Amino acid sequence: MEPATSLKALARELDGCRRCPLYRDATQAVPGEGPTRAKLMLVGEQPGNDEDLAGKPFIGPAGKVLNGALDAAGIERRKVFVTNAVKHFKFAPRGKRRLHKRPNAYEIERCRWWQENERRLVKPRLVVALGATAARSLFGKIMTISKSRGAVLELPDGGHGFITIHPSLLLRIPSAEDKAKELRRFTSDLKTAWRIANTEL
Ligand code: URA
Repeated sequence: MEPATSLKALARELDGCRRCPLYRDATQAVPGEGPTRAKLMLVGEQPGNDEDLAGKPFIGPAGKVLNGALDAAGIERRKVFVTNAVKHFKFAPRGKRRLHKRPNAYEIERCRWWQENERRLVKPRLVVALGATAARSLFGKIMTISKSRGAVLELPDGGHGFITIHPSLLLRIPSAEDKAKELRRFTSDLKTAWRIANTEL
């Protein structure tokens, strides 16, 4: 198949993806969203329950945290390309609920092709990995978030990468004080990434 020449065409192809078994239980594949020529790309883990139903990335609880941090950082979300490392929702059914399950190394590897195609078309100056799954997808190996966070790193294909936490981490911090501290740090990472993408590369 010829490589897709637009994000629209890529999203149509993605819808028929059978590269791994996750398509079987998900409602639909969730493509990235944002301007075709975004300078900054944010890569999350995978769609959650809400994203799976709506077909849009980061619209559920983690998306609300992300939106709040982008706002606080003075970044308009509509100027950023937002996507995920894995495009189908992986979950375990629990009664009527669908509980998020982490994608495994095989699923991340198989889905990488879509992320690479999104980068080929958008050509962001900087790509931010939100958490470990995205970092693994972008760098092709396990990255320790705490060690590699907050700096510009070279991607295997020569692009520029940047690692920070996944916003859902903030939803799991019980202490309000710790949560506020982590949110400030996350906001500051996004601000740094935005500045770098717009001025330094
Ligand atoms: N978490 C992600 O990583 N991506 C989404 O789109 C939603 C939640």
